[in-house]
Amino acid sequence: MKKIFLHYRRTTWVLATIGLLFVLAVSADLAPVSDLPQSSAELGERLFMDPILSKDFTVSCSSCHQPEFAFADTMTFSMGINGVPTGRNTPTATYMNNHHVFFWDGRAQSLEEQASGPITHPHEMGLPLPEAIDRLTKHTDYRNAFLRIYHRPPDSMLLVKAIADFERTLAPYDSPYDRFLAGEDEALSESAKRGMLLFFKEQTCNNDPCHSGPDMGADSLVSLGIFSPTDRGLFELTKDSADIGKFKSVHLRNIAITAPYMHDGSKKTLHEVVRFYNTPANFTHENVHYDARTVTFQMTDQQVDDLVAFMESLTDQRYLHLLERPSQREGPEPSAD
Ligand code: HEC
Repeated sequence: MKKIFLHYRRTTWVLATIGLLFVLAVSADLAPVSDLPQSSAELGERLFMDPILSKDFTVSCSSCHQPEFAFADTMTFSMGINGVPTGRNTPTATYMNNHHVFFWDGRAQSLEEQASGPITHPHEMGLPLPEAIDRLTKHTDYRNAFLRIYHRPPDSMLLVKAIADFERTLAPYDSPYDRFLAGEDEALSESAKRGMLLFFKEQTCNNDPCHSGPDMGADSLVSLGIFSPTDRGLFELTKDSADIGKFKSVHLRNIAITAPYMHDGSKKTLHEVVRFYNTPANFTHENVHYDARTVTFQMTDQQVDDLVAFMESLTDQRYLHLLERPSQREGPEPSAD
């Protein structure tokens, strides 16, 4: 009798446990629909922020492209998995939508192609794509989100599509400069207005291979003579000596809050960058064929300040408060030479 009773008790426990597991599994699968990303861009945002895409679950895209700093960070080099610093400065991931050349050396031609780079890069996130897809497929929320949005389980094409679709949303065009263009005259200070005229004047910044287009950045690579023996930009890919020192002419949206500057983070402030252009002696490297326009600046200190004020006016509304940070502003500069 006791034996039968024990047997029943055990069976009841087993059944109860199976039942509980079943309920848990079903309820996990039926996570509240409202919590799941509803669109490709929303899914991409979640993936962008999630360290699940790094080998050791410690690094996400947003570790280096931090939303609070215009999707860049404030360091010369960022840290990937295992605390290994990146070889180049992290650029902003905002305002990527009008562009067709990505990375400092232009090695990716679409945002989708770009996105797989950091996931698999051994020093950034270090996760082979098949492993990333396996993780997402086993993750109930992600699997359901992919099914709901694309009617297909996760695959690597959809993964990079979601991330790219999210990045394309990061271009609100609501800076003081945009408000000025929309007719709000007082959106720009007098200094920023003078800087704007200077910026768009012929032979200064707004030339074709340099800072042209609505984002003030061309999809082209030029050399300013800033390179090191271990990183000569496009030359590292082509081995063509004409490409020595060529790096991407980055766009200038949100530039005031994404210091430090250049591919190697060697310029700490915008004043330092403009003073660099304003110093002809910087354009004498024997291996580099400079565009004549890079060597013809002769700006006064006031003009340098005005250009910086204009670049500050390219800051999105949500980041304007960062311009108050002392590290982003510089007082009067010593003269260029
Ligand atoms: C460990 C830091 C780090 C992580 C993590 C990282 N990035 Fe980057 N990102 C960089 C650096 C550094 C560059 C420039 C590298 C180069 O040009 O060689 C870059 C370049 C880019 C660019 C090109 C910008 C331009 O102007 O050409 C985009 C877009 C971008 N990253 C998006 C992403 C996405 C999406 C992820 C996640 C899947 C990601 N990054 C993860 C550091 C990082």
